Amino acid sequence: MRVLVVVASKHGSTWGIAEAIAGELPSTDAGRALGVTAVLQAAEHAPDPGGFDVVLIGSAVYAGRWLPAARDYVSAHAAALRTRPVWLFSSGPIGEPPFPPDEPHDAHPMLQLTGARGHRVFPGRLDKALLNFGERAMVTAMRAPLGDFRNWEEIRGWAGEVAAELRTAPTG
Ligand SMILES: Cc1cc2nc3c(=O)[nH]c(=O)nc-3n(C[C@H](O)[C@H](O)[C@H](O)COP(=O)(O)O)c2cc1C
Repeated sequence: MRVLVVVASKHGSTWGIAEAIAGELPSTDAGRALGVTAVLQAAEHAPDPGGFDVVLIGSAVYAGRWLPAARDYVSAHAAALRTRPVWLFSSGPIGEPPFPPDEPHDAHPMLQLTGARGHRVFPGRLDKALLNFGERAMVTAMRAPLGDFRNWEEIRGWAGEVAAELRTAPTG
């Protein structure tokens, strides 16, 4: 079973989440039973979903929205995505508890366009050193908490849930 993990990340933290998911999928019990191989690609490279059985698409969230590369990818490949199992994930909320708690604005339309089986929001990372001038001004004004709030156990656990669902319901 070939799984494509497509991700849009501006400052690398969502890429790290996608990397962990792609690394975990083949090594879970269900992933081994299914003979999963996972390929990780940036949404900017617009990988063709055609050669894959399953597609996972993730994006960092900025100002409540997915990055344009992820939105464009879904629009361009919606027809192919609707004919295979798809899951979506987002990364953004910062702090303890993670803020903002709401789903990104694009979650619902992206779910509709792809017919995805689910969408998961993971806490992200805010590292001032990586931000551009405008972003730094914005996070300072918002007094956003800095740090890496990614929960690797939760991320790997979700990959395990996806693999388990593929094992019990590979199609449909
Ligand atoms: C200027 C700015 C705006 C942001 N807006 C949101 C937002 O609206 N919702 C959210 O959940 N996270 C928001 N974040 C947090 C980012 O999504 C988070 O830092 C994420 O981990 C970044 O992913 P990346 O490193 O892959 O680009 C924002 C971060 C910055 C710097």
